Amino acid sequence: NQPFTVAIDGPAAAGKGTISRAVAARFGFAHLDTGALYRALGVKGGDPVAAAQSLASEDLARDDLRSLEAGAAASRVAAIPEVRAALLEFQQRFARRPGGAVLDGRDIGTVICPEAEVKLYVTASAEVRAQRRWLELGGDPAQVLAEVRARDERDMGRADAPLRPAADAVILDTSDLSIADAVALAVAEVEKAL
Ligand code: C5P
Repeated sequence: NQPFTVAIDGPAAAGKGTISRAVAARFGFAHLDTGALYRALGVKGGDPVAAAQSLASEDLARDDLRSLEAGAAASRVAAIPEVRAALLEFQQRFARRPGGAVLDGRDIGTVICPEAEVKLYVTASAEVRAQRRWLELGGDPAQVLAEVRARDERDMGRADAPLRPAADAVILDTSDLSIADAVALAVAEVEKAL
């Protein structure tokens, strides 16, 4: 029942969520989708810093959190340092809960849990990621690709906790991998560290 942290970072639609859920289920770890925290603040509107300080479970239960608009709004509030600071302690406590935890996001291995036992950076080409988002949400394919690129730029270009692989992260490019193969590689990394 020791703490054990698996940090999974990467750009939008690279496969982090699917891999994180599978790894958590495989090892009986708790899972936190940290993108949902920022999405909830993005769709809530109002003062995002105040909202971050009082984020509640009903904010995370809204069913419009997965939309393209929610993702775009999330990446805007996520660039505000006070918002990130307000969410830091909750995420760090979750990461060190007894029995193991998987957190997926953009800055888990670099900022939230630099001491994580396992760090994965899950990525794929922008075209492949846009294709996956389009299969999930529909819409105009060119607009979905433009939105994926815009979000990459905001997430990688911001000053506070920009998206980048931690120096000691294992890079997992899922462009040409099936879900089963990507999950198997992630599971193997966790097994090595257990
Ligand atoms: O992963 P997801 O697409 O749900 O994340 C939505 C947005 O929230 C990201 O584009 C990013 O701007 C922000 N985010 C972040 N740090 C995290 C998780 C998400 O800045 N740890």
